[in-house]
Amino acid sequence: MSGPNTDYDPVEVTPLQADEVAAAREAGIAAVLAARDLDELKQVRLEHAGDRSALALANREIGALPPQARKEAGQRIGQARGALAQALAERQAVLEVEHEERMLVEETVDVTLPTDRVPVGARHPITTGSELIADIFVAMGWEVAEGPVIEAEWLNFDALNLGPDHPARTMQDTFWTDPQDQGIVLRTHTSPVQARTMLTRTPPIYVVCPGRVFRTDEYDATHSPVFHQVEGLAIDEGISMAHLKGTLDHFATAMFGEGITTRFRPSYFPFTEPSAEVDLVCFVCRGSGLAVDGGQPCRTCRGEGWIEWGGCGVVNPRVLQACGVDSERYSGFAFGMGIDRTLMFRHGIEDLRALFEGDVRFTTAFGSDIS
Ligand code: PHE
Repeated sequence: MSGPNTDYDPVEVTPLQADEVAAAREAGIAAVLAARDLDELKQVRLEHAGDRSALALANREIGALPPQARKEAGQRIGQARGALAQALAERQAVLEVEHEERMLVEETVDVTLPTDRVPVGARHPITTGSELIADIFVAMGWEVAEGPVIEAEWLNFDALNLGPDHPARTMQDTFWTDPQDQGIVLRTHTSPVQARTMLTRTPPIYVVCPGRVFRTDEYDATHSPVFHQVEGLAIDEGISMAHLKGTLDHFATAMFGEGITTRFRPSYFPFTEPSAEVDLVCFVCRGSGLAVDGGQPCRTCRGEGWIEWGGCGVVNPRVLQACGVDSERYSGFAFGMGIDRTLMFRHGIEDLRALFEGDVRFTTAFGSDIS
């Protein structure tokens, strides 16, 4: 293509004409200025300054001109290409700055924007409360025992000295499974775990059993047809009521703090003899019976200084015998408390139903303790 071409009439080579070169230069510069972004500018560069652009083609023709015309055309085209290159460079610089600024804006992360919250679940206070209670006993060397919630009538009643016609059976209004004569109940207390433990293990036995129990109670602020109990059972040689008292005092103090101990009131359970109701020093007035803000009676214990906590007693020898334990050699104590009630006391929960209704605002207040 290049190399002297003596046949050429420079006047005929239109790309080299001054007005053509000027037009190509103007068109190029106009296109450069019109380019709105770096991609468009790249296209403009290809089209107006690339190998196949009018100015590049003209440049290639210079060599074919006679020396005189060559110089003139060379200057013209060189200036045009220089001007276009400069326009391209300037536009490039402007567009690069614009691009950077746009990226800074577009890619900004607003760290103050609220994120989508992923609610963290919390373990239910009854679960954590049951574990807390179990831990108090495990720390004393006791074990945790479990039993089924759908229980044999015999283990729920008969083995515990509540015969078929025993009046105490009506103390516990029972859910029976159909047909009733197959003798399967929803356990009315955790005491059948006592019987199960004694039937399957040999003393010494120290077990604590937290679990769900069922009675045909109305559902209100202090009752629920489903609730939770914790049963304790100790069977060993020489066990007496004194051990029971010491154990429950420790349990109460561990649960409610220093100074909160227990007292026993005589009571009756068919499976313990003697039996007692356990009361707790009122954790609000700490036994004074008086409201903190003056001489009024404490509202929590109604001025008593004590609140009812559960039942207990020395295991009736008839229960030991029914469960295959040598009642001449061994004796034991047992107790049963409501876990829900214990938690209500401990956390100032006024309505039992809050523990059962699954409102996360209530449960998360106990902390998002996920372990
Ligand atoms: N099982 C009894 C109840 O549910 C409580 C209890 C347990 C009493 C152990 C004495 C001994 O009322």
